[in-house]
Amino acid sequence: MSVEVRTKRVSTRDIRARKGGEPLVVLTAYTAPIARLLDPHCDILLVGDSLGMVVYGMETTLGVTLEMMINHGRAVVRASSKACVVVDMPFGTYQESPEQAFRNSARVMAETGCAAVKLEGGREMADTIRFLVDRGVPVMAHIGLKPQAVHAAGGFRAQGRLDSEAEIIRADARAITAAGAFAVVVEGTVEPVAHALSDEIAIPTIGIGASPACDGQVLVIDDVLGLFDDFTPKFVKRYAELGPVISRAVADYAAEVKARVFPRPEHCFGPAKK
Ligand code: KIV
Repeated sequence: MSVEVRTKRVSTRDIRARKGGEPLVVLTAYTAPIARLLDPHCDILLVGDSLGMVVYGMETTLGVTLEMMINHGRAVVRASSKACVVVDMPFGTYQESPEQAFRNSARVMAETGCAAVKLEGGREMADTIRFLVDRGVPVMAHIGLKPQAVHAAGGFRAQGRLDSEAEIIRADARAITAAGAFAVVVEGTVEPVAHALSDEIAIPTIGIGASPACDGQVLVIDDVLGLFDDFTPKFVKRYAELGPVISRAVADYAAEVKARVFPRPEHCFGPAKK
């Protein structure tokens, strides 16, 4: 008799309980094969709207649609069994009103099977976060540098250098905590500010370009694997250089096809055996 052993997924409660404990390991994942590889190593798989740039070649995240997030979210949930899967709410699908945010995040949760949604914003999103949490939608917040507000912020630049900016980020952190977010991504924020707010709030902070004092770290998987060549942000560490490996493999394939070296007989189907 075979017994199916199902590993319990990490829940949003488990994540919340990790405040001050072993750092949380978070990576983005957009597709089933990559999710399958990352799942055993990660506490959270984030289906980030960075997929607009990483997968679809867009300039910013602003053109990402709910349908894209649902399709990729579904693939990542299907291919993972351990990590807590969080799906980003794209620009324009939650900012209008708490009701709009609930309608769209309920769709994301129902159609992907993910555990939670992530949305960008601090004090201005606190009422929406409260509305969602009260109605059964766990929310991860995202403060500091907010890529969906890139035009309003005048570009991608580290936040919190001025005292006035630092105070805004810390107020944002307090507001989203009070509203019931179970964790918060702190992006592109100067180290002392990210460190201070990590000490200050009761929920896990997950840093990207923030501080080692955060309760966890997140990176974009294509950056970690060295799949991009054009630009590596300061806060990224490339743990592999897969771009050249892929180029070499594809060049070898192309050369063998042209020379009729591939396919060989062992790659071909023989006639039916009599
Ligand atoms: O969209 C994304 O991938 C993100 C992470 C970089 C935090 O929000």
